[in-house]
Amino acid sequence: MKKILVTGGAGYIGSHTVVELVAEGYEAIIVDDFSNSSAQVLARLKSIICREISFYQGSVSDKEFMNRVFEENHIDAVIHFAAYKAVGESVQEPLKYYENNVGGTIALLEVMKENKVDHIIFSSSATVYGMNNISPLTEDLSTSAINPYGYTKLMMEQILTDLALAHSDWSVTNLRYFNPIGAHESGLIGEAPNGIPNNLMPYITQVAVGKLQELSVFGNDYDTHDGTGVRDYIHVVDLAKGHVLALKHNLENKGVAVFNLGTGIGYSVLDMVKAFENVNGVKIPYAIKDRRPGDVATCYADASKANDILGWKAEKTLQDMMRDSWRWQSSNPNGYEG
Ligand code: UD1
Repeated sequence: MKKILVTGGAGYIGSHTVVELVAEGYEAIIVDDFSNSSAQVLARLKSIICREISFYQGSVSDKEFMNRVFEENHIDAVIHFAAYKAVGESVQEPLKYYENNVGGTIALLEVMKENKVDHIIFSSSATVYGMNNISPLTEDLSTSAINPYGYTKLMMEQILTDLALAHSDWSVTNLRYFNPIGAHESGLIGEAPNGIPNNLMPYITQVAVGKLQELSVFGNDYDTHDGTGVRDYIHVVDLAKGHVLALKHNLENKGVAVFNLGTGIGYSVLDMVKAFENVNGVKIPYAIKDRRPGDVATCYADASKANDILGWKAEKTLQDMMRDSWRWQSSNPNGYEG
């Protein structure tokens, strides 16, 4: 049985990926420092997969700790999620982001090198396509960033690419996610942002559950079908399954591969509000506000490369995403707290 180290495995995408890894016969070992997640996730994972999961609490930046994890386990590959992800905070505290995201990745790669583990799947983002590319976005387009969070994703992709160019034994897979939403259908794990959510879907569900009063729609004068921003929302379980197929490809191929993980379909903010209301029968009050700085009008994937090479395709519908997001939020109004 192949052993896969999942950094940030207690986080939103990491925890869903652990479920799919185990379902496909891999052994998952989680490293997480709980900086943006909860110990509760481990108990919830246990009840979903009906077995104990190896877990180490600590930071990927701590090389002594990470060396111990590698020494105690015969690890075949790493899926690296552990990183900070709040765009606004990254603008306020750039050093925190560069140190944790870029510094943490370099430390992890050094430990992997020392322990002769040379397979890594990296959690990148569609943010690397920047402001100027036209959707549908293909993997060969130019990349750029407009905030420190985006720069850390670009830098980490570059570091991994350079490593694989320098050492021909390495296998690197950079996965560029579009907008993950939804939750495991058990309602036991899901997205639990700290404080007021920055992203659309958790904001909608927190309005629905009564924690927030109304949604602010950031701009209705974009060049889109209803003037509001269009994004490629993907169910987190589809995304998790994409990681398992990317891992299989990574274990069988050397060099660098880059894949978009999106559905290829764009929905506007108002499409999302209406879909949520229709599927769940809960009204979402909203008000139109100014555009949010740094937002593009439209961003959706060309997802054909992952389909052609990995045999992966998002299968869940917008209705599934709405239903599962709401099941998670309504049965866990305070996330993992209480
Ligand atoms: C955002 C980040 C992106 C990051 C991703 C991680 C920005 C500019 N981009 O993507 O770098 O990789 O999250 O999940 O922060 N919206 C509202 N009201 C809200 C929240 C969002 O109208 O309260 C709108 C936005 O203007 C946008 C759409 O909803 O049109 C989606 O926003 P969001 O969920 O924040 O995702 P992105 O901006 O695509």
